[in-house]
Amino acid sequence: MTRNALIYTVLFIAFLSMITFSFYYYYQLKQDDRRITEAADPGSAPPSYHFALIGEELDHDYWRLVGEGAKQAEAEFDVFVEYEGPQRSNPEEQLKILDKAIKSKVDGIIVQALNDEFTTLIDQAVRQGIPVMTIDTDSPESSRSAYIGTDNYAAGQLAGEALIEDTDGKAVVGIVTGRFNNAHHALRVEGFRDVIEQEEGIEIVAIEESSIDRIGAEEKAYNMMTEHEEITALYGTSALDGIGISEAAESLNRQDDLYVITFDTLEENLELLRQGRIDALVEQQPWIMGHRSIEIMLDILKDKQIEEIHHTDSSIVRKRDLPYRHDLGGEE
Ligand code: BGC
Repeated sequence: MTRNALIYTVLFIAFLSMITFSFYYYYQLKQDDRRITEAADPGSAPPSYHFALIGEELDHDYWRLVGEGAKQAEAEFDVFVEYEGPQRSNPEEQLKILDKAIKSKVDGIIVQALNDEFTTLIDQAVRQGIPVMTIDTDSPESSRSAYIGTDNYAAGQLAGEALIEDTDGKAVVGIVTGRFNNAHHALRVEGFRDVIEQEEGIEIVAIEESSIDRIGAEEKAYNMMTEHEEITALYGTSALDGIGISEAAESLNRQDDLYVITFDTLEENLELLRQGRIDALVEQQPWIMGHRSIEIMLDILKDKQIEEIHHTDSSIVRKRDLPYRHDLGGEE
């Protein structure tokens, strides 16, 4: 090859790589950051408000629904919602994202307040003039303006009542909970316990953390059922706990006689409910939480009188309810 031919070949390869990378980055930006496309449109004025919505894990159907609700509100009002969170549950990373939102002086922050460390940062944001509301998990002792989400204590009570009804008041119970120091899980356990303790024929013999992870839930449920062979029912307080519990039940050949109640009507949980491997689900309203949170934040910014607590519905769904629940994929 002559020297010139070599130079042209190298230049040609460099040009091709440049084009390929440009397309790749353009695609990534379009996917990840709607602000870029908005900014690129010279005709449209930027939205009046920029909110940060911070959840526990983006790679999760529950939080996807929260995000979809908020994005729908974004289309209805003049706001931009920056929806952020760790891909998988990671409270440290979630705190850093909250800190970053405060530093970037957004107009409002909507955050799931998992524990006391969130309370400290929420107070800091409010001191700096950024209004904050909590979503899914509240921090009542912080200076947040409002909470939207499930009444987690009442949802725990509902789960306890369902278990009593479905087991005729006779059960030996193990609990798999997300994390001991997550406020909403603690409330779901407390509400459950308070109801169960009234019932003579039911006792709770073990409680373990799943770390908000299906493998964690499977391991803990498996160990619990081998250490306490007398267990007849398991209660999971987090969306993935039921999946882990039913895997463990299958490994121990307990799928037919173990009673399982857990949180969230996610597709995988509904499938297990149809198969009879989960007996009851506590339904929450993640889409409504996301959507309403934006409306409430706008009211806060407009100095409107608002309620401090906005509880979204929670209810029990059993297999027999599915034929009437077309929204959950049920068919008559
Ligand atoms: C909880 C969320 C949690 C999700 C996934 C839901 O039940 O309300 O806080 O992030 O489960 O574990």
